[in-house]
Amino acid sequence: MIAWNGTAYDALPLPHVEWGKRAIAALNLTGSEILLDAGCGTGRDAELALSMLTTGSLICVDGSDTMLEQCATRFTGNPKVSILQSDLNLPLPVEHNSVDAIMTVAALHWLPSHDQVWQHFYRALKPGGRLVVDAGGFGNLDSTLHTAQTIDPAAYFPDWYYAKDTDTHELLTEAGFSNIQVQLRPHPTPLPDTETLFTYLKTLVFREWSDEKLRALAEILPDRNLDYVRLEVRATKPI
Ligand SMILES: C[S@@+](CC[C@H](N)C(=O)[O-])C[C@H]1O[C@@H](n2cnc3c(N)ncnc32)[C@H](O)[C@@H]1O
Repeated sequence: MIAWNGTAYDALPLPHVEWGKRAIAALNLTGSEILLDAGCGTGRDAELALSMLTTGSLICVDGSDTMLEQCATRFTGNPKVSILQSDLNLPLPVEHNSVDAIMTVAALHWLPSHDQVWQHFYRALKPGGRLVVDAGGFGNLDSTLHTAQTIDPAAYFPDWYYAKDTDTHELLTEAGFSNIQVQLRPHPTPLPDTETLFTYLKTLVFREWSDEKLRALAEILPDRNLDYVRLEVRATKPI
């Protein structure tokens, strides 16, 4: 897989900023929590959440060297922040019953399935702990892919799993969560100009495509719009 470019990523007008703010708002932080950001990337949302953790602490987890390098520069020398490299297909690299809240933004659709991840999150949370999720959901970027296939009929999203709300609800229930809310929320995102759209597609969407194909796609994508659909989850581990 092509490595993430953390610098190019942070320079983009990312809809992820809004997704992160929604997730943080839904956490209802009191300030004393141990918060884990799963798939933290460059730590943008983690930094915002940290500003609300007056006495709490933050654990950033991601699998990518390059994203974590960028993340580490944000938090240099901050004793309230731990940065851990780990694969989200595996159990979280923390003790059982050890964190008050888990947030994850735009990361879980990178897992090939969600059969294990809710159980892993459940184990890491303390009783009463909260889970807030944003991820690509069922139908995400369907039109974008359709347009891409007019340029390359073989275009596909090899790594992404866009879960249904119903399947997600079932797996969260099986894992033991309560107060489960799951929704699919369309979030159409037009980008301001073709050059930004080209860089966006190259950094985030079709990272293995040639520049030539990406430029062609950036020219024809209707309204330069990315038809995002977000899978949003709020759930609690029972006390
Ligand atoms: C689109 S970025 C989102 C990053 C950040 N949450 C944000 O909103 O900007 C997806 C992140 O998920 C991470 N990721 C994808 N698959 C992963 C896996 N299996 N284990 C750990 N991290 C993973 C990537 O390294 C990347 O940092």
